[in-house]
Amino acid sequence: MLIRTEAPADILPIDSLLKTVFDTEAEANLVMKLRENGNRTLSLVACSDEGELIGHLFFSPVTVEGQDDNWQGLAPLAVKPEYQRQGIGLALMEEAKSILAELGYPVAVVLGHSDYYPKAGFVKASEHGLNCSWPVPDEAFMVVELIPGSLAGKSGLVEYSTEFSDI
Ligand SMILES: CC(C)(COP(=O)(O)OP(=O)(O)OC[C@H]1O[C@@H](n2cnc3c(N)ncnc32)[C@H](O)[C@@H]1OP(=O)(O)O)[C@@H](O)C(=O)NCCC(=O)NCCS
Repeated sequence: MLIRTEAPADILPIDSLLKTVFDTEAEANLVMKLRENGNRTLSLVACSDEGELIGHLFFSPVTVEGQDDNWQGLAPLAVKPEYQRQGIGLALMEEAKSILAELGYPVAVVLGHSDYYPKAGFVKASEHGLNCSWPVPDEAFMVVELIPGSLAGKSGLVEYSTEFSDI
C-alpha cells in the first residue's frame, strides 16, 4: 500500500469511493465543494499495490471562537469496504498528522466514532473546553494536538467552513 497526497487524476476515483462508502452522496459533494472553494488543506489517498484507490482522508480549516488559528477538521475519512479493518484508516491518519505538524498546523478536530478516533490520538474535545457548533453527542467531537502545547489557553466554539452547512 502507498499513501500519498491527492493528484488531479484522483479526483474522480475519490468521488466514486465516497459514493460507495457512504449511504448518500453528501460526503462526495462536500469534498468537491471544499476543493473547488480552495478549502483543501490536505487530501491523502491510500492505493493498493495494483494502484487501486482504497482509502481517502480530507482536512479543511476550522475556526475556534471565530478565529483562524490554522486548526484543521478531518472529514471525511473512508476506506473501501473490502479493505476495512486492515489498519488503512489509522495509517492514513498517522501520515496526515505528521504532514500537518510538519507544515505547522497545530490542532486537528474530528466528529465521528468515539471508539475509533482515540486510536489515532484524539481525545474528547470537551475535556479541553472545546465544543462543536452542531448538536452532537459530547464524546463524538474530538481533538488532537499536532504540535505539543498548542491547545494551552484555547477553548470555545469550533466551527467548520460554510460548505458543511449544506450537507
Ligand atoms: C471508519 C473507517 C474509516 C475505519 O477505517 P479502517 O481502515 O477500517 O480502520 P482501521 O483498520 O485502521 O482500524 C483500526 C482499528 O479500529 C477499529 N475500527 C475500525 N472501524 C471502526 C469503527 N467504525 N468503530 C469502531 N472501531 C473501529 C478496528 O477494529 C481496529 O481496532 P483494533 O486495532 O483494536 O483491532 C472505515 O471503516 C470506513 O470507511 N467506514 C465507513 C465510513 C465512515 O464511517 N467513515 C468515518 C466517518 S467520516
